[in-house]
Amino acid sequence: MPETVMTLPDGFARRMVDWQRLYGRQSLPWQNTQDPYRVWLSEIMLQQTQVSTVLDYFPRFLTRFPDVAALAAAPQDDVLALWSGLGYYTRARNLHKCAQEVMVRFGGAFPRRAEDLQTLPGIGRSTAAAIAAFCFGERAAILDGNVKRVLTRVLGYGADLAVAQNEKALWALAQELLPAQAADMPRYTQALMDLGATVCLPRKTQCEACPVSTLCEALAQGEPLAYPVKTRKLKRSSATLWLLWAVNAHGQVWLQKRPDTGIWAGLFSLPVFDSEADLLAAWPKGIEPQYIASWKHVLTHRDLYLHPVRMRGSGKSAPACDGQWVDAKDWSAMGLPAPIRALLAAA
Ligand code: ADE
Repeated sequence: MPETVMTLPDGFARRMVDWQRLYGRQSLPWQNTQDPYRVWLSEIMLQQTQVSTVLDYFPRFLTRFPDVAALAAAPQDDVLALWSGLGYYTRARNLHKCAQEVMVRFGGAFPRRAEDLQTLPGIGRSTAAAIAAFCFGERAAILDGNVKRVLTRVLGYGADLAVAQNEKALWALAQELLPAQAADMPRYTQALMDLGATVCLPRKTQCEACPVSTLCEALAQGEPLAYPVKTRKLKRSSATLWLLWAVNAHGQVWLQKRPDTGIWAGLFSLPVFDSEADLLAAWPKGIEPQYIASWKHVLTHRDLYLHPVRMRGSGKSAPACDGQWVDAKDWSAMGLPAPIRALLAAA
């Protein structure tokens, strides 16, 4: 569908802004501020985590790291520890790198333009636009998953978003739909997010509560759920991980810091092995392995089949692999993958 034949609905931005004022979310802790540090932090957290969880993490993070300088100066392990439980740890590593780049490249002040924000680690086009719109009123369009759903429905945009060119054309349409006045940008941007999160839902639309239902092409067709169109299916993979759960006579557990790349990068974990044989080779002879029930841990792109093997050591013996003994009272404050944390906590 070439964008040139699309007619844009009149008054879209106006209706969105008016609706947000009456029905949108008004008092989330990252609203009513133009501090780019807070807005950036919230947007990164909200990328793959629901609002209710972020409400818990956001204030704790701000208490520990009140500004970008504090975050930049912190050890990476402290950042990962505070992120623990939010998942998608690439976000946390990029967050830390981004803070350091803001210090070094921009003298400690976030750049104001979306174009410049986008050059920072972990800030994609939509996140850059959200920060620029919320904090500086820039007329920059956001287009995350929720907003794609809202706009493809309103416009009846049926081109396959798996095709890069079609997605690019939707960005251009999103830009054309923006309010004329920069002053309306923060509320308009929030309106798109709020409508996507509360009304224009993936499977259960609430068109009767929608401020743009009379403009909505998908509703006029009687097919709101037919949009957006995206053909490419997520390719899932799976992996089997053997976890060496060594505990010594003092109740300490053997944890290793994961490499900077690959699964659970940078976090502290029980040692991970590809096979049972590799795992057993890392433990001194004569100690009886205890096989713990395995389970499946589902990630976005991958199923992990986790097989913990518990070994109680005596005295000084330590596994023949990277790691260190960690006191029971210490690991809970460290950055551990959620399934490892759950395993240790259940012991
Ligand atoms: N999701 C992404 N950004 C958000 C925001 N600013 N408010 C609520 N939900 C969001």
